[in-house]
Amino acid sequence: MDKLLIKGGCELRGEIYASGSKNSALPILAASLLADTPLKVGNLPHLNDVTTMLELLGSMGVDVMLSDDMEVQVDTSSIDNLNARYELVKTMRASILVLGPLLAKFQKATVALPGGCAIGSRPVNLHIDAMRAMGADINIEDGNIVASVDGRLKGAKIMFEPVSVTGTENVIMAACLAEGTTVIENAAREPEVIDLANCLIGMGAQIEGAGSDVITVNGVDRLNGTTFSVMPDRVEVGTYLTAVAMAGGKVKIKQAKPEYLSSVITKLESAGAFFILEDNSVEISMKKRKPNAVSLTTGPYPSFPTDMQAQFVSLNSIAEGNSTVTETVFENRFMHVQEIARMGGNITLKGNTAVIEGIEKLTGAPVMATDLRASASLVLAGLVAEGSTVIDRIYHIDRGYERIEEKLKMLGADIERIS
Ligand code: EPU
Repeated sequence: MDKLLIKGGCELRGEIYASGSKNSALPILAASLLADTPLKVGNLPHLNDVTTMLELLGSMGVDVMLSDDMEVQVDTSSIDNLNARYELVKTMRASILVLGPLLAKFQKATVALPGGCAIGSRPVNLHIDAMRAMGADINIEDGNIVASVDGRLKGAKIMFEPVSVTGTENVIMAACLAEGTTVIENAAREPEVIDLANCLIGMGAQIEGAGSDVITVNGVDRLNGTTFSVMPDRVEVGTYLTAVAMAGGKVKIKQAKPEYLSSVITKLESAGAFFILEDNSVEISMKKRKPNAVSLTTGPYPSFPTDMQAQFVSLNSIAEGNSTVTETVFENRFMHVQEIARMGGNITLKGNTAVIEGIEKLTGAPVMATDLRASASLVLAGLVAEGSTVIDRIYHIDRGYERIEEKLKMLGADIERIS
């Protein structure tokens, strides 16, 4: 099994490109199920989760053509199986995103219930309740969500509590081909929701309000394919920016959209970093030897993203001063704390808050990746630790970071993939 070997202590300097967003690519690929003609999706990141989504579509008989530059053409006219199998769903919870499109387009779907998850219980009750409110008949049979609808789904008023990103996306997609108007209240405002809506609008959908907490969708009779390029990955960009704030140096990230990273950039400024922001690029410079500690609380967009929480636990563990990091989105997203502690981090968990005392130096150690963002935090810790860090189970990283070791190497890090 591959591992990452990192020798800490190098400053990061240079330029890299942001990859396409995983959490935008996944719903957009699921949206291909709604189209009567092929959908072309560009700027897809080369990631295991994207491959899993393509495999899932392929397992339904969908024709997927991938070109070398990661543009994919998805043609659903050959679909012959409306079943998302457990073998694929268990490796990627975002598989639930096919539920809405399948029901809306084909009036039937069987989607395996995702099981447990390393970052919290992550139920899908809101997805199921919303489809029921739109007229679907849903039973749980043998671990599967077995759903059908008599005729078309019906527009409905759907209220999310709590806010759910993929829940909002599932309802938007289902509503596009439903009869009448759907109003989503307390909708997720994440930029990935806007990206999905823009793709669907390009396919002929009528959607208003994406990016706000009330989204209105007027159902149409049919959607066509279009050509769409997914937005840059704001969590990937945020992760590299945090790496620079920890390791020092100066890095420009191109094809990034810093407007979607305000909460992260504000915290990195408090940590002592300086930024030059342009529409499509972000440059960070960090001259201080160590970042200042920054306390934060995660929340739905535009609050501080839970997907950046682990990286900031790493930053704070070597910062000047003490901090608290409070997680409000997922109940168990602190698996990285024990691993950073193995590297010398002084972190105490009090309920959903990590209380962190900044220390002079982390020390390299063998550590284990437990989920995607936890793995990223260990990479950042390894970059600044004294000595060598070996991160095991990096398949978690490959789910969400495209060529992470190549990008960091280009910036001067001493990192390699070993087996
Ligand atoms: N929730 C429910 N019931 C539901 C759905 C969600 O109680 O039916 C709860 C969850 O348990 C959680 C909260 O609602 O406490 C928010 O979860 P949400 O549904 O928003 O999460 P998600 O849609 O499953 C997406 C991203 C995650 C990201 C979260 C929060 C995708 C494919 N995944 O997950 O990304 O952390 O939103 O922003 O978009 C990652 O990339 O590492 C990742 C985990």
